[in-house]
Amino acid sequence: MSVHQSSNIKRITTHILQEMKMRGEKISMLTAYDYSMAGIVDAAGIDIILVGDSASNVMAGHETTLPITLDQMIYHATSVVRAVKRAIVVVDIPFGSYQGNSSEALRSAIRIMKESGAHAIKVEGGSEIKESVIRILSAGVPVMGHLGLTPQSIYKFGTYTVRAKEEEEAKKLLEDAKLLEECGCFAIVLEKIPASLAKKVAETVSIPVIGIGAGGHVDGQVLVIHDMLGITQEFKPRFLRQYADLQSIMTKAVQDYIKDVKDRDFPTESESY
Ligand code: KIV
Repeated sequence: MSVHQSSNIKRITTHILQEMKMRGEKISMLTAYDYSMAGIVDAAGIDIILVGDSASNVMAGHETTLPITLDQMIYHATSVVRAVKRAIVVVDIPFGSYQGNSSEALRSAIRIMKESGAHAIKVEGGSEIKESVIRILSAGVPVMGHLGLTPQSIYKFGTYTVRAKEEEEAKKLLEDAKLLEECGCFAIVLEKIPASLAKKVAETVSIPVIGIGAGGHVDGQVLVIHDMLGITQEFKPRFLRQYADLQSIMTKAVQDYIKDVKDRDFPTESESY
């Protein structure tokens, strides 16, 4: 039975996520970018759906997350929100729509919330974007932070390797996590950092810490849905557990369909009017 079939659906809120951390219940989070996928993920019982700017990679085929626009993110978010009955929907503010100044950041956040109906936004970075985070929060928009490997800064890093292995970067990351908590963020994503550092962050801040490539000693986990379902096959980092091989299943289904059409096996009488 799906979660939706149960009689009353209790929406996940930032408050519930906080309670989950406090009682030690792990938080599950996955990305989704469209109505059909979001409906499946939500009905399966996920806690958080992230309309990630990874849509730039897996939906649009770009090499990085930088090209996706605010309008495109709003389009994806709107489709996801229409399908979701239980999960909290968080939307990435895309590159170039919040780093410039806090007024622009607030405008972008408000557009996402107003036009898509999403419940929260996510930003990448720490002290550098403090003013923007405060401004967005002051308008009543819940903010999720994102530290460690922040893909919007890939051209600064130059590589997708593990971040914060050196003491100085690890120290800044911990300070940034504390700062995001102080500002009022409701959760923080930690991407591709040593498990020991992620554990320290999760123990230091009182808000939920969700990891991707950050080990198991955090409050929850997030993966990109196309990667964990095996729709994408070329991306296989150590942290990725692939739960299905949908690429093979889909390829076989399409090949079977092509064969049936060519062989005149489809449609049959019973499939015709
Ligand atoms: O855009 C995204 O999918 C993300 C996750 C990897 C956390 O930010």
